[in-house]
Amino acid sequence: MKRETVIVLDFGGQYNQLVARRVRECQVYCEIYSYKTDIEKIKEMNPKGIILTGGPNSCYEASSPTYTEELFQLGIPVLGLCYGAQLMQYLLGGKVERAAVREYGKTQVQVDTDSRLFAGVSPETICWMSHFDYISRTAPGFRVIAHTADCPVAAAENEAQKLYAIQFHPEVLHTVEGTKMLSNFVLDICGCAGDWRMDSFVEESIKAIRKKVGDGKVLCALSGGVDSSVAAVLLSKAVGEQLTCVFVDHGLLRKNEGDEVEAVFGPDGSYDLNFIRVNAQERFYEKLKGVSEPEKKRKIIGEEFIRVFEEEAKKIGMVDFLVQGTIYPDVVESGLGGESAVIKSHHNVGGLPDYVDFKEIIEPLRDLFKDEVRKAGLEMGIPEYLVFRQPFPGPGLGIRIIGDVTAEKVKIVQDADAIYREEIAKAGLDRNINQYFAALTNMRSVGVMGDERTYDYAIALRAVNTIDFMTAESAQIPWEVLQRVTSRIINEVSHVNRVMYDLTSKPPGTIEFE
Ligand code: XMP
Repeated sequence: MKRETVIVLDFGGQYNQLVARRVRECQVYCEIYSYKTDIEKIKEMNPKGIILTGGPNSCYEASSPTYTEELFQLGIPVLGLCYGAQLMQYLLGGKVERAAVREYGKTQVQVDTDSRLFAGVSPETICWMSHFDYISRTAPGFRVIAHTADCPVAAAENEAQKLYAIQFHPEVLHTVEGTKMLSNFVLDICGCAGDWRMDSFVEESIKAIRKKVGDGKVLCALSGGVDSSVAAVLLSKAVGEQLTCVFVDHGLLRKNEGDEVEAVFGPDGSYDLNFIRVNAQERFYEKLKGVSEPEKKRKIIGEEFIRVFEEEAKKIGMVDFLVQGTIYPDVVESGLGGESAVIKSHHNVGGLPDYVDFKEIIEPLRDLFKDEVRKAGLEMGIPEYLVFRQPFPGPGLGIRIIGDVTAEKVKIVQDADAIYREEIAKAGLDRNINQYFAALTNMRSVGVMGDERTYDYAIALRAVNTIDFMTAESAQIPWEVLQRVTSRIINEVSHVNRVMYDLTSKPPGTIEFE
């Protein structure tokens, strides 16, 4: 394996990515693999430690995911979590049974702090439990190192063989001292140095990219989003002007965004690269004329984007490499990494361009979680406003305008959205809300301004908190902030006479307002 690594064997648990992230927070590189991964491959990788995740099954049932017992004889420390803990005990001769009641939620756990796993942890600590099955008898050679009122074996160890089983979930934040436990495992028990850092990632990646690219030509579609920006800067640091970034301004970006991207990456910016901005606003507006069905708009924008990009790529001619901003959750969620593949609809602009003449794809961020991409970005001096940019859909404001899209409507929603973002930042809420934006409803209604009757649009404000963007709650924004935003939008943005706040959660709503 290229660097000191702990691997997570995924048994279908919902927290698989979280386990890997927490390990990386201990500055130890970590990758996720399916429990179907062959033991020979694991031996080849020679990881410093192995973590078995939770999962929804019962280990004593014949059809449940399992693993060869040999895993525990490799001399590599193994930590089983929840299902992983039960499976370890079961395979090594312990007993797992169905409990009369499910133990669920924050639970007081008594831990034996003499165990290396719990060194520095309080003897009584709150942990997150979620299980029906329980370990009723540990496997030979194990001793119990934690219990709760209902669970006789909340953790067990075989210190000599470096095998550890934990019934609860140290990876979730409700387990107050979970990070300490994981860090005890990876640093002390597995003996990792803990030197996985973003500066070393940046340095290593630059070297690897240089080696791979040689004097080849590289093309990158830059959207101004976090992933493509960080990928572009990494490439620029590695190969400078061998890199060309094409930024398609489809006229559906947030206010001033096109200019901001140009200021950072363009000729007056701070990076060494060829930057091409394509001002294709009119082309997109023309194609979108009279179209109001959201899926149709998405399709038109996606296809037109490809066409514009393709034209630019043709001008450049044959390139050797095409950069993609794929990040680790994309890899795991597309089923290549772990077991719990979530089928995520990949609705990014462009998709994989098979229409550009290139030899190979480069995905420099493939191993990173989003927060690590941000850290790498900051490390390389990318401005904070770019690094902490909220998610923004590829089709942009095209899908935040209900009904047909016109230049006038784009301007309205841009102006309203800019005011909203400014006020949220002023109120110090910008880092606490995961996504917030203004959308233009297609509704017009009667209002009165001064002495005049108006017949204008209603703006919808949306703000959500979410962990994974699959489910979301509307954010609780202080009333005064909403009032200030409302009055500023009505006073400053022409053709708006009403502002509404969307309280819908997801489901049943979606985050976008399209
Ligand atoms: P929904 O509206 O499906 O959005 O609840 C979930 C998350 O995905 C973002 N989103 C997109 N991101 N291209 C993207 O890159 C798209 O076409 C797209 N559509 C929605 C949305 O902003 C939210 O963060």
